[in-house]
Amino acid sequence: MRLIGPLPTICFGTLLSIPVSLTWAFYAFASSWFVEPTPMNFFMIIAGCCFTFFFGLLCVYRFFISCCPIPEGDLQEGSRGEFYWMISAAFWVLFLNLIVVNHIIPVPMTRILYKILGARVGKNTYFSGTVLDPQFTTFGSNVVVGLGSIIIPHVIEGKRLAHFQVQVGDNVTIGAQATILAGTKIGSGSMVGAMSLVPKNTVIGDYELWAGVPAKFIRKLPTI
Ligand SMILES: CC(C)(COP(=O)(O)OP(=O)(O)OC[C@H]1O[C@@H](n2cnc3c(N)ncnc32)[C@H](O)[C@@H]1OP(=O)(O)O)[C@@H](O)C(=O)NCCC(=O)NCCS
Repeated sequence: MRLIGPLPTICFGTLLSIPVSLTWAFYAFASSWFVEPTPMNFFMIIAGCCFTFFFGLLCVYRFFISCCPIPEGDLQEGSRGEFYWMISAAFWVLFLNLIVVNHIIPVPMTRILYKILGARVGKNTYFSGTVLDPQFTTFGSNVVVGLGSIIIPHVIEGKRLAHFQVQVGDNVTIGAQATILAGTKIGSGSMVGAMSLVPKNTVIGDYELWAGVPAKFIRKLPTI
């Protein structure tokens, strides 16, 4: 397991100061408007501060991953890619997991959340499950990511750290509580059974049903 070093921590702290400053500015502005100490005013200020902080954080994170993308493949120790990963990991372990893993965002808004976090998401695709490292994922249109499923484009195996794209075609259903590991490709019209484990680098063709632990090809699905 890699440790986040002092320099990435300082960089992360500098980036974090942006949403913190925005929240402070909002607080100063709001408390001059909602001066009466009523419960409603208190609630409005707290809710506004939380929204400002997390919205600012998402914007800063998006800006960061656009400017400093983590390269696909293995990350060598001491590399620039590992440095970017450490800063990104600090965002995730401290804040983004709170939103993504705990499903605070209502399902109809999840596509917007994952798009901000870097995923490519087609029309009418929604997420009841969790997508880690969204910048390494692509989803076509009409995809159902089932309740409690998880998509993990990173490989953390002892000292090994790598990221591989997970690509999901159109009209795919990922069953509830399925786990999709790094490098997987799921063709259009396909389905992954509930509670299945799709191992690393699996290629599922178009209109195929896969299920089980590890997931295996079950049968072809109708094309209409
Ligand atoms: C995979 C699935 C689509 C199969 O449904 P089906 O077409 O009716 O197929 P069957 O139930 O006849 O099962 C076909 C074979 O797959 C196996 N199978 C079915 N679901 C499985 C699963 N989740 N894990 C492992 N094996 C599974 C069956 O045991 C059967 O094996 P057999 O032929 O050796 O007896 C369905 O079981 C499933 O998991 N749907 C996911 C729904 C879901 O979670 N949606 C998202 C909600 S948020």
